This record gives sequence, C-alpha cells and structure tokens, in this order.
Amino acid sequence: MFKALVLDQHEKNTIAEIRQIDESQLPEGEVLIDVDYSSLNYKDGLAITGKGRIVRQFPMIPGIDLAGRVIESKDSRYQPGDSVVLTGWGVGEGHWGGMAEKASLKADWLVPQPQGITSKQAMMIGTAGLTAMLCVQALVDAGVKPESGEVLVTGASGGVGSVAVTLLAQLSYKVAAVTGRVEENSELLKQLGASRIIDRSEFEEPARALEKQLWAGAVDTVGSKVLAKVLAQMDYNGAVAACGLAGGFDLPTTVMPFILRGVKLLGIDSVSCPYQKRINAWNRLVEILPESYYQQACREVGLEQAVECAEAITNGQVTGRIVIKL
Ligand SMILES: NC(=O)c1ccc[n+]([C@@H]2O[C@H](COP(=O)([O-])OP(=O)(O)OC[C@H]3O[C@@H](n4cnc5c(N)ncnc54)[C@H](OP(=O)(O)O)[C@@H]3O)[C@@H](O)[C@H]2O)c1
Repeated sequence: MFKALVLDQHEKNTIAEIRQIDESQLPEGEVLIDVDYSSLNYKDGLAITGKGRIVRQFPMIPGIDLAGRVIESKDSRYQPGDSVVLTGWGVGEGHWGGMAEKASLKADWLVPQPQGITSKQAMMIGTAGLTAMLCVQALVDAGVKPESGEVLVTGASGGVGSVAVTLLAQLSYKVAAVTGRVEENSELLKQLGASRIIDRSEFEEPARALEKQLWAGAVDTVGSKVLAKVLAQMDYNGAVAACGLAGGFDLPTTVMPFILRGVKLLGIDSVSCPYQKRINAWNRLVEILPESYYQQACREVGLEQAVECAEAITNGQVTGRIVIKL
C-alpha cells in the first residue's frame, strides 16, 4: 500500500482526498518509481480544484512532475536505484501522476536526474523551470542578445516567471519583471535578478495596434490582453516566447506588430518536448541556475497541504515554486 492524493468526480465537482492505494492498482508502465518529490504547477492547481478541464479520467492521481528512484524496470535504459525525473507527457492528466509515493510510467517519458542536483532541487525546477528554459532558449535562437535591449517577463512571481527572470539575469540580460504583486514581491524579483519591476495594471489597458518600442524580447506566461500589450510594445525584430494563459487564453491583438515590425511570436510547449531537447534544457538549467535560486524562490509542503496550495496557485497567490515531499 502507498499514500496518494486521489481526485474523483461527484456530481461534476472534483473531490480531492488522501488515500491508501494498493500497488496492484497502479496503471501499466515499464518503470516503477519510488517518488521522493512532486511539485505544484498552475496546471496541477486547475486539476486538483476542478477549475480547469485538465483530468481526462477519474479516479486520477494528480502531479505533472515527479522525481524519485527506480524500484523495478522492464526497460534496459533504467536500473533499480537510478534517480529519474518526469515532467509532462499528460501524466497527472490521463495517467496517474506524481502526488503519490509510487508511480508506474513509460520509460520514454523519463529523463535521468541531471548530475549535481538532488530530487528536491529537480522539483524546484520541474515543469515550470523546463518551460522557462525553453522560452529563454527560443529567444536566444531568435537572435535576442543581452546587448539587444531589455527583456520583459510577465507573471514574474509565478513558477515559470521566477525561473525565467533568474535564467535571463544569469545570462546577462537586463530583465524587466511584470507583476500584479509589486509590494509583496519586488524585493524577491530584484534578488532573482530583475533590474526593474512594472505593475501588471500597466499591461491591462487595451493595447493600441502599435505602441512605443520598449522590449528586445519577452517571456509571456499570462496571455490575453497582457500578451497583446507586450506584442504592441516589441522592438523592431523583437521576439516573444509565449507559454502561458494565467490571464486567459484569448489574444486580442492585430497583425501590425508582425507585419510592420517583424515581431516573432514563438509558441513554447514543454509537455511533449522531444527527449534530446529536454536533456539539453535540463543540463543548461543546472549549469545556469545559481545556488541562491534554490533558497530564494521555493517552498516545501507535504501532500496534506497540496489542496490548499492548489487553490492558492489558481488564485495567483503563489510566489515561486512549491515542492511536495512524498
Ligand atoms: N506551454 C507549456 O508547456 C507550459 C508549461 C508550464 C506552464 N505553462 C503555463 O504557464 C503559466 C504559468 O504557469 P506557472 O506554473 O508558473 O503558474 P503560476 O506559478 O501560478 O504563475 C502564474 C503567474 O501569473 C500571474 N497571474 C496570475 N493570475 C493572473 C491573471 N488573472 N492575470 C494576469 N496575471 C496573472 C501571477 O504572477 P504575478 O503575481 O507576478 O503577476 C502568477 O504568479 C500557466 O498558464 C501555465 O498553464 C505552460
């Protein structure tokens, strides 16, 4: 038997409770894992609270991320005792996920835990960190250089945003951080490397088709009118890596930034990111993130607190990353 957070549906409401599960109930998989840590992402928040249609079948164990050790493996790439990490691939949505002491997964979904970090640090990075790294890499590949000008990060105090601020600052970019929580989080965002903090309200006014050019690059985790405003303010040939919808999934914009300023809108997905790109991104994350990141922007909770943290993340009240100890 092992302990897990289980989601069920009752009269269209999602019910979350901690249960003891028999190992024989685990879904089929090639690698059985003793989970050390999971983490809490916005998507987990939507799944656990039932505020978003994330879970595809019930009962479901949430947790789109996990790090742990291999107990048994039918795949020659993994041996008992190996430390592994999983992010994405629909785990915690259509396949039982990381908020349980054990998980049974496909070998193709795993990556070896990067050298030099613990399973807790791997989850302090998690899906949010991997996504932030993919955003930053996309800007670099699009030709945005530290000398090109300021780079904007929206939803900066969140999981993806806080890692993006840290990575960009470590790579010598000048970072402007947009947050709805200026008073609470300015100090932390500056410690992570932001050189200035901008109140989100400045990005919530309807955007004109083109506005004053301000940003060489941007990482957007918010979508909707905030992304529309960012696009209207991009420099000629600037690039925006768009990965999120914390402010909504619509995009009330025009083609003007694209056709008159050559602005590039780069879509970022970490869920189905191919193996080699994932490995490269994990290695870069471990190389770039300073030791201070792990102390500044992360909080550890037990499975018992997962539901209240899920509520908080969907209300935009979580700062940085939350890891869940199993
Ligand atoms: N494409 C992918 O593969 C991928 C992977 C991971 C995450 N995501 C998406 O990226 C987004 C961020 O994920 P996360 O895990 O970092 O979530 P998170 O920790 O909740 O961060 C989101 C941040 O957005 C801001 N925000 C919240 N509600 C908002 C609203 N109504 N309007 C404007 N800003 C708002 C808040 O930052 P401030 O308080 O600082 O403003 C919040 O901390 C989510 O939409 C998630 O689904 C996508």
